[in-house]
Amino acid sequence: MIVLGIESSCDETACGIVDGDGRVLANELYSQIPEHAPFGGVVPEVAARAHLEKVGPIVRAALDKAGIALPDVDVVAYTRGPGLMGPVLVGASFARGLAAALGKPAAGINHLEGHIAAARLSHPDLEPPFLALTVSGGHTQIDRALPGFRFETLGQTRDDAAGEAFDKCGKLLGLGYPAGPYVSREAKNGDRSAFRFPRALRGVDTLDFSFSGLKSAVLRLVESRPAEELLARRADVCAGLEEAIVDMLTERALQAGQATGIKTLAVCGGVSANPRLREKLPAELEKRGMKALFPDLRYCTDNGAMIAGAALFRLKSQCLVFEHLPVSPGLELGEFLQ
Ligand SMILES: Nc1ncnc2c1ncn2[C@@H]1O[C@H](COP(=O)(O)OP(=O)(O)OP(=O)(O)O)[C@@H](O)[C@H]1O
Ligand SMILES: [Mg+2]
Repeated sequence: MIVLGIESSCDETACGIVDGDGRVLANELYSQIPEHAPFGGVVPEVAARAHLEKVGPIVRAALDKAGIALPDVDVVAYTRGPGLMGPVLVGASFARGLAAALGKPAAGINHLEGHIAAARLSHPDLEPPFLALTVSGGHTQIDRALPGFRFETLGQTRDDAAGEAFDKCGKLLGLGYPAGPYVSREAKNGDRSAFRFPRALRGVDTLDFSFSGLKSAVLRLVESRPAEELLARRADVCAGLEEAIVDMLTERALQAGQATGIKTLAVCGGVSANPRLREKLPAELEKRGMKALFPDLRYCTDNGAMIAGAALFRLKSQCLVFEHLPVSPGLELGEFLQ
């Protein structure tokens, strides 16, 4: 069994290939960060055009890396959403066209299930019951895994996502795009208690999250202090900010464990690459007899292997919805992949 997965929901054009045992044979990626950096955020039309240009070469590169010929592909999986409309349409159209030309089924995958699949690619024993904390640029939610690689959402953010909080606060502090990794780099040299930022919904009986207060708090700080002071103390501000986000995520993870009695938590999405989260959350969970599993760093942010993986895990549980498309005899596949 060979599953090829195409990811194009935001600013990464990616293709991954997994075999029937969940082994990743290729995970090729083109990051559009340099294209969007001058704008300080993703420009949907720029993203869609870049996907159009790169999707063919990236699929070709993944096939070459895996040593797989196109006819050996059994399923073409792709991100069907959530994501930016233009970018999703480019990947979906390419994937469905490829599947039709090969006479193989296509399968649309939920991008967030893809992020959770990334944790299982790194931890093949990850089976229900487990909780999944998905912390990415556009989403923050906690789900309970059901049989068949399906999920029930127990709580989600009421406003910004955790990654968005890192990015927007980092931008206010003059850091690069996307700001999450820059904040965590600065935070390493900072004092985590020098600046105290709010922990929203603390002690409230909910599994929801809220991060928009952080943005306001950082904005107030930036407006109230001289620029030189902020620059000099940027490491401390970043450390305080990171600590607040990590604390809020950790508190919800503990509450979810208590509410469900489930002891295993998979943490996934781009923010799961954060070193402080990878250090503090497992330590706190361990005190309550819980365990946290993180994907390998290369599978935290968007990638194609996670989409192929989600399709494979659903397929194995007979929960994958195939889209059988008409075959077009005589179509020159070479043209697709130039
Ligand atoms: N070390 C880090 N610390 C904090 N945040 C990080 C780190 N590395 C990446 N991020 C954040 O991860 C986010 C990107 O993750 P990801 O690619 O999963 O999100 P997305 O695909 O844009 O959003 P979604 O998956 O919700 O559609 C960005 O907000 C980025 O700042
Ligand atoms: Mg993502």
